[in-house]
Amino acid sequence: MTVIDTEVQDGRARPQRGAKVLDAEQVTMRFGGLVAVNKVDFDVHEGEIVGLIGPNGAGKTTFFNCLTGMYKPTSGTVKFYGEVLPPKPRAVVKAGMARTFQNIRLFGNMTALENVMVGRYCRTTSGAITSVLHGPKYRREEAESRSRAQELLDFVGLGKSSELLARNMPYGDQRRLEIARALATDPKLILLDEPTAGMNPLETQQAMDLIFKIRDQGLAVVVIEHDMRFIFQLCDRVLCLVRGEALVWGTPGEVQSDPRVVEAYIGGSELEDDEDEVQA
Ligand SMILES: Nc1ncnc2c1ncn2[C@@H]1O[C@H](COP(=O)(O)OP(=O)(O)OP(=O)(O)O)[C@@H](O)[C@H]1O
Ligand SMILES: [Mg+2]
Repeated sequence: MTVIDTEVQDGRARPQRGAKVLDAEQVTMRFGGLVAVNKVDFDVHEGEIVGLIGPNGAGKTTFFNCLTGMYKPTSGTVKFYGEVLPPKPRAVVKAGMARTFQNIRLFGNMTALENVMVGRYCRTTSGAITSVLHGPKYRREEAESRSRAQELLDFVGLGKSSELLARNMPYGDQRRLEIARALATDPKLILLDEPTAGMNPLETQQAMDLIFKIRDQGLAVVVIEHDMRFIFQLCDRVLCLVRGEALVWGTPGEVQSDPRVVEAYIGGSELEDDEDEVQA
């Protein structure tokens, strides 16, 4: 495996790769007779941005679901900082893994600020009774959550939208809001499922800048995307899944020039615009 620690990436110094954050071994997920993910090995280190690509139905989201406790893999193990976590999304978030969803999952009738505050609740200590009674501890934590949520909205570029209802926000802003909510859980690793889907080129560039900024804060990042230009510019390593199997796993240069990757997409329509990007 190539360790890159000195290259410059998109004009930024690439940070040194640190400890192993996530380690998935031989992860398999079956749905009845369908093997959606088949014996996939995968790892992510501190300071790394890793991409997950593959045609529609390749198993990318299912693999994310296995990594984040939404699904218990049929077989194989997922370790986070060396420990197997219970297959429960809440426990996984608490341990330091946060994600966004391919289909945006926001509270439409809550403001942007409130949506981000929801992400804070897993880090506050006020129990249900304290919250109901609105005691001093609750009020202090509420004020801290509010101010941290505003900081995060500023960080993702939505500082001026804090009072907007999520459902009234433009689509690209909703995607950034989901990222802010995920960041509110204080993760060590963030997993983004198609963060630029539906975005225009300017928003896509802003999303790339945001992901670099997140990485520069010391987080490890895993990104699923169909936009090859985006993936190859952004990522340190890329895994290409095809029909649930790991086809190629390497640097953007290695994946981009692998004829099997081009072949995997032939006949696929979603990448026609990017075909020139994956030609050897
Ligand atoms: N809960 C489920 N029950 C049964 N089959 C499922 C389930 N979830 C996913 N699948 C199947 O598993 C396969 C992989 O789906 P998945 O959504 O992981 O693909 P993907 O790579 O994320 O695709 P896309 O790029 O379209 O998002 C597909 O054949 C899908 O129909
Ligand atoms: Mg998917």
